[in-house]
Amino acid sequence: MSAVFARYEALVAASELRPDAEQEAAARRLDALQRELEAAPTRGSVLWRALGRQPDPPKGVYLWGDVGRGKSMLMDLFFDCVQVRRKRRVHFAEFMLEVHARIAAERKKEAGDPIPPVAAALAEEARLLAFDEMMVTNSPDAMILSRLFTELLAKRVTVVTTSNRPPDDLYKNGLNREHFLPFIALIKQRLDVLPLNGPTDYRLDRLGRMDTWLVPNGPEATEKLSAAFFRLTDYPVEDRAHVPSADLDLGGGRTLHVPKALKGVAVFSFKKLCGEARGSADYLAVARRFHTVILVGVPRLGPENRNEAARFVSLIDALYEHKVKLLAAADAEPAGLYPAGDGAFEFQRTVSRLEEMRSEAYLAQGHGS
Ligand SMILES: Nc1ncnc2c1ncn2[C@@H]1O[C@H](COP(=O)(O)OP(=O)(O)O)[C@@H](O)[C@H]1O
Ligand SMILES: [Mg+2]
Repeated sequence: MSAVFARYEALVAASELRPDAEQEAAARRLDALQRELEAAPTRGSVLWRALGRQPDPPKGVYLWGDVGRGKSMLMDLFFDCVQVRRKRRVHFAEFMLEVHARIAAERKKEAGDPIPPVAAALAEEARLLAFDEMMVTNSPDAMILSRLFTELLAKRVTVVTTSNRPPDDLYKNGLNREHFLPFIALIKQRLDVLPLNGPTDYRLDRLGRMDTWLVPNGPEATEKLSAAFFRLTDYPVEDRAHVPSADLDLGGGRTLHVPKALKGVAVFSFKKLCGEARGSADYLAVARRFHTVILVGVPRLGPENRNEAARFVSLIDALYEHKVKLLAAADAEPAGLYPAGDGAFEFQRTVSRLEEMRSEAYLAQGHGS
């Protein structure tokens, strides 16, 4: 058992983290929340009953800032440290897919408003919900968030979240945004909003000046990509045999196996992503879920590979639109990847996107649309 702030200070003292005033302030705030959560009376306890009413849940935290500022790092540190039995950390986009699925299941029962029972079930499962990368990009999400979160908070759930944007910029210019404004008000009222938006993109620092499109595809490129994976995820290289995998929910009961997935970074082979029958919905799910994709084994494509080439175009479009960072090992530079075949002319747009995706300006952008 350890305290968030002590852990944070120890990492700075060990030079694993560089000192950063905003991070320090956030670590102190999360440390206070840890204490509150650990001291909160558990359900059914004597203290709970003596209070005679449900005590308010500890106030949550909303950490926002550009990519690479350490939001996920701090939230994970907090989440690991906090001794709460019913706690859950989930990527926000994934959570929303699950919420919609639960709402659909609830509707089938035709038992009235589906949101309260869904919120009740979620609150039953976790009294601490930690979301990574809260963003709101579609109207179905926007329309239910205010009611869903009002219910969750009323059921004493504490929410901690990271986001690339301050609350006022969520769902900016979105359709029917007026229905979404109560959600923003709720966040500002019920969560402490903390900026984590200093000048340093630590992730870019860790990528160094590394070229992200490596040619040729071979042991040297593989070694570089694997080193980048460990730097980006802070995963101990000694445990390289045990890097977690994941199954990405594609909706409709389909999943995509991700052989290595950690902290928003995914590793795929070209064969897996572009060699099987897939469409842009699959690639969009990847692009929403991961801020960085490492793609190995990209071959030079010939006229007989027009399907692979077309899928690769959809993949790059999805990654590009969501500003996902791409690190790849390939047999050719982008311009030489698909010189001839159906759609080779249109492929030029993908070539130009791939070149842009190598630029420092692109790499410095946040994840999201
Ligand atoms: N103060 C720091 N010093 C050095 N590295 C840091 C620091 N803060 C964060 N990092 C590292 O930078 C990378 C990006 O941090 P992350 O938490 O993923 O950023 P965000 O979620 O804000 O995009 C991670 O590898 C993280 O460990
Ligand atoms: Mg993050």
